[in-house]
Amino acid sequence: MKVVLTGTTGGLGSSVLRHILKLVPPSDIVLSVYNPSKPPAGVPAGVLVCKGDYADPASLDAAFAGAEGLFLVSYPSIAHELRVERHKAAIDAAKRCGIKRIWYTSLAFADGSVSEVMQAHLDTEKYIKESGLTYTIIREGIYTESFPLYLGFFDPSKGTDEVFVPGDGKIAWASRDDLGEATARLIVADTHKNQTILLSGPESNNLTLVELAQVVSRFLERQIKVSIVSIDEYIAHNRDAPPPRNDEDFLREWAKTYDAMGREETGVVSPLLGTLIGRPPRSVEEILAAQMGKGAIEQYAK
Ligand SMILES: NC(=O)c1ccc[n+]([C@@H]2O[C@H](COP(=O)([O-])OP(=O)(O)OC[C@H]3O[C@@H](n4cnc5c(N)ncnc54)[C@H](OP(=O)(O)O)[C@@H]3O)[C@@H](O)[C@H]2O)c1
Repeated sequence: MKVVLTGTTGGLGSSVLRHILKLVPPSDIVLSVYNPSKPPAGVPAGVLVCKGDYADPASLDAAFAGAEGLFLVSYPSIAHELRVERHKAAIDAAKRCGIKRIWYTSLAFADGSVSEVMQAHLDTEKYIKESGLTYTIIREGIYTESFPLYLGFFDPSKGTDEVFVPGDGKIAWASRDDLGEATARLIVADTHKNQTILLSGPESNNLTLVELAQVVSRFLERQIKVSIVSIDEYIAHNRDAPPPRNDEDFLREWAKTYDAMGREETGVVSPLLGTLIGRPPRSVEEILAAQMGKGAIEQYAK
């Protein structure tokens, strides 16, 4: 099946691309790239690279033409309406182009989530289910690599020894590259049709922020204390931070993530990630050893 992949210059999509190229011939892959002047690195000859901007339906029509499947990476923003609009544009273009199969990267929060970040995914999931396309909605586990965003915007380089968060709860932390590999395998296997599936880290990675801070403390060889504060105090602690963290509206929306964690939305474990990659998923320790969250705030809090 010829599959068009979006988001392959990004963290998750680049991993999907790397792994899928080990499984299928390049001629089965088309890349729909937001900025064609900066295509993903190391793309072999035979992979067609096209411009595809979710904000430009004509570019999507050109990029998706002739493909049978679409791997849709969610638009990297936490702005609810804008995000849904971008996803709908891609889904509509897929239908216009005669694509019959879609894989969508949703997020590992629950149905009826109280988090703000999940709302665009829930709306998109609904739109996909009503689209008539054969779908697999992949609720991708929360990346361990993005831990600073959850851990009070913790920056290892700043020498901070206390973080302030408006709540706590378990997260079944996953490795972004394990998710990329599992997602590539799912696409190639063409299974889980018309299903919503969860890829999470294993039970041993299912840690609260207090527990995660212990792991981070061991790496840094200094104790990081997690203090649970009110939302107003959380906002006050971020008043002098760079944008968008100094924005009260952003913080109030993001704080709903902690309500969702408190309801155990993010602490659900599924064995599917390990089954798909054929080995135990990476541990939180392994992932943190490779990456201490550098750039995570800039990348994900936009
Ligand atoms: N599972 C998790 O824990 C988790 C955590 C944080 C975020 N996410 C979300 O999951 C998704 C994938 O994560 P990621 O790490 O791969 O994000 P990422 O590194 O920010 O990659 C996003 C991709 O989307 C592309 N893009 C940006 N604007 C676009 C547009 N208008 N039209 C088409 N493509 C566009 C980017 O292209 P350029 O490189 O050219 O900009 C990039 O390839 C994102 O929505 C991200 O916000 C998931």
